[in-house]
Amino acid sequence: MDALQQQLQVYEQEINEFDPADAAALEQYRIRFLGTKGIVKQVWGEMKNVPVDKKRDAGQLLNSFKQLAEARYEQYAHMLNTVDKKSAVADISLPGTPLPTGTRHPLRVTENEIISIFEKIGFSVATGPEIEDDWHNFTSLNMPEHHPARDMQDTFYVSQNPDWVLRTHTSSVQARILEQQKPPVRVICPGRVYRNETISARAHCFFHQAEGLYVDKDVSFADLKQTLYYFVTEMFGADTKVRFRPSYFPFTEPSAEMDISCTICGGKGCNICKHTGWVEILGCGMVHPNMLRNFGIDPEVYTGFAFGLGIERITQIKYQVNDLRLYSQNDIRFLKQFQSL
Ligand code: DAH
Repeated sequence: MDALQQQLQVYEQEINEFDPADAAALEQYRIRFLGTKGIVKQVWGEMKNVPVDKKRDAGQLLNSFKQLAEARYEQYAHMLNTVDKKSAVADISLPGTPLPTGTRHPLRVTENEIISIFEKIGFSVATGPEIEDDWHNFTSLNMPEHHPARDMQDTFYVSQNPDWVLRTHTSSVQARILEQQKPPVRVICPGRVYRNETISARAHCFFHQAEGLYVDKDVSFADLKQTLYYFVTEMFGADTKVRFRPSYFPFTEPSAEMDISCTICGGKGCNICKHTGWVEILGCGMVHPNMLRNFGIDPEVYTGFAFGLGIERITQIKYQVNDLRLYSQNDIRFLKQFQSL
């Protein structure tokens, strides 16, 4: 028992005087004292030689020895860590830790491109709220309550107020601009819109549009066609052809939908264009006189054109994205492919 006690005192001294110079030294300490064949285990092995009546005292001695060895180990490790950290902060010549950079979202890339194309010809950017009231989203756009065209744009209503909806199109921003600004007005309005649709590869409950509006004296359908033709050749290349099909929108008269020659197959026919050689990209028309009147603008003096395009659709055609859901799944493998844009 006395021999054991003496032995422990020697070890305790060694533990207390240990110099934790670096991680390797600390590891040596750990192996020597706390390892599976270390001193703490060894001295516990001595218990079997201790007479029965001394076992209790011996147990206490061994326990406090073990606790000392462990506590000092923690303390030395802590010292090493702080020393390490201090020197890292001090060494400003070390290269920094590189942080991974994110990428622009493909829809944002397309949106930016659309904006810069229209900015070049004098359009400025306008935005509006995503939670809209009935007047700005429907009624002022010549789409009063019970108008059948509302059926095509079923959306989400806000229970707090039956007059509020998640806007179904960026045409609502036309209304907001016309109530604030007198012509000439030349704006492009990008943003998120909502529809009550079942989510699939081709439809989603939210998507993005960019709206264009030009109201001034003497604005004609020829101006509309030329402006959109300019947009298409800037966006998809000089070889792209356009065609206009008569259509119906309550807020324009006459109205049209515009197709471009399929950029994937060059017009020969493929899956993207459903073998027609053409893909629809937007709706457009001359601003309806009723709409101008709703905002106190005299349709005998002013005319205007408007158009609305889907940003997902433009991105799909430009980068061949075949499933709408990819845009909102946040899958890095998809998003990384747009890194260089
Ligand atoms: N707001 C229409 C839609 O979401 C798109 C549209 C068509 C916008 C014709 C216009 C327009 O400004 O003139 O389906």
